[in-house]
Amino acid sequence: PESVRVAVIGGDGIGPEVVTEARRVLEAALAQEPVEIEYVEFSLGAEHWLGTGETLSEETLEQLRGVDAILFGAVGAHPQDEKAPSGLLEREVLLRLRFSLDHSVNLRPARTYPGTATPLAGAPEIDFVVVREGTEGPYVGNGGAIRRGTAHEIATETSLNTAHGVRRVVEDAFTRAESRRGHVTLVHKHNVLTHAGDLWRRTTETVAAEHPGVEWDYMHVDAATIHMVNDPGRFDVIVTDNLFGDILTDLAAAVTGGIGLAASASINTEGSAPSMFEPVHGSAPDIAGQQIADPTAAVLSAALMLDHLGLSQAAHRVEQAVHAQLEAWAQAPDSARGLSTSERGKAFAARLRP
Ligand code: NAD
Ligand code: IPM
Ligand code: MN
Repeated sequence: PESVRVAVIGGDGIGPEVVTEARRVLEAALAQEPVEIEYVEFSLGAEHWLGTGETLSEETLEQLRGVDAILFGAVGAHPQDEKAPSGLLEREVLLRLRFSLDHSVNLRPARTYPGTATPLAGAPEIDFVVVREGTEGPYVGNGGAIRRGTAHEIATETSLNTAHGVRRVVEDAFTRAESRRGHVTLVHKHNVLTHAGDLWRRTTETVAAEHPGVEWDYMHVDAATIHMVNDPGRFDVIVTDNLFGDILTDLAAAVTGGIGLAASASINTEGSAPSMFEPVHGSAPDIAGQQIADPTAAVLSAALMLDHLGLSQAAHRVEQAVHAQLEAWAQAPDSARGLSTSERGKAFAARLRP
């Protein structure tokens, strides 16, 4: 049998809880396939940092470079907890991985499932993907503070946008649109962010000319939040920068049925390092340790991983199992009430066994 190596980083809070269920479902999905997954566990996150003073060592990063894919839960401690300074783990583990492994495309599908409740009137069917830039923008951390702590403090953050970085993510969006409904929406704020906005717009014009079968339009990010709530059906593929994409995908998750369902893939489009598969949500310290987190997002992220590894049939079967189970729960809400994280994972897995 073919063998693939998958690194598992459960991380903090609900991260390990939901990743356990993703693994359970993967196991069930591959039981009948001539493929073995070898899991390599990495204990990273708040506990590891407290115990060792280390966030992500060079050595660990090198080991991670050698795997075929990474399954990631979430990192980050409770803001009220003094466990780790706010943002330390997010930047030094999660963002460091995305940057070092060159995850140029952060793919975040947003769709409704049969029967699943959404907060929108008329429960419209929604099916779009956000292609979020993953290695640039304000996330690069080129900022500083002068006269810190004084009444004259000045704090700056720089947004980095390179022609190369923008081009590859816009190209990915147009290519994706070709196998979807043929429409791309560029979301930015070029009325204010003139330099970056101009680069994104010119790049999109150039790439659009190379994809005559795809139509595109432009929307300011503030207006995009209106349309995402009032008329989400207008979107097919949204391409946007790192920070706008972060914010829009939490909103997209909320309008399509909840953050517990939203999957994502941080993709190295050149194949020069492993891609990473992670729910859109965070460590959810408010519900951690109670076995009440929804594992669906992690399970669907694992399906994106299977697809990326070329196991598209298994990926499809996981998606079908999740859709069918969500529909069953929607039709008999009593059967879903009070189910634990692992009971949900087991229900998905049960649908994959012959
Ligand atoms: P969050 O996504 O962790 O939680 C937001 C809200 O959604 C909370 O009410 C939470 O209970 C709920 N929620 C999230 N996932 C859920 C699930 N699977 N099932 C049910 N409810 C769920 O965002 P936050 O509260 O802003 O961040 C908490 C910590 O996580 C912070 O330290 C933040 O920096 C970090 N974070 C990490 C990642 C990541 O590692 N990928 C992503 C986002 C936030
Ligand atoms: C996400 C998260 C991360 C991001 C944080 C934790 C750095 O919010 O994956 O959406 O902003 O990308
Ligand atoms: Mn986010």
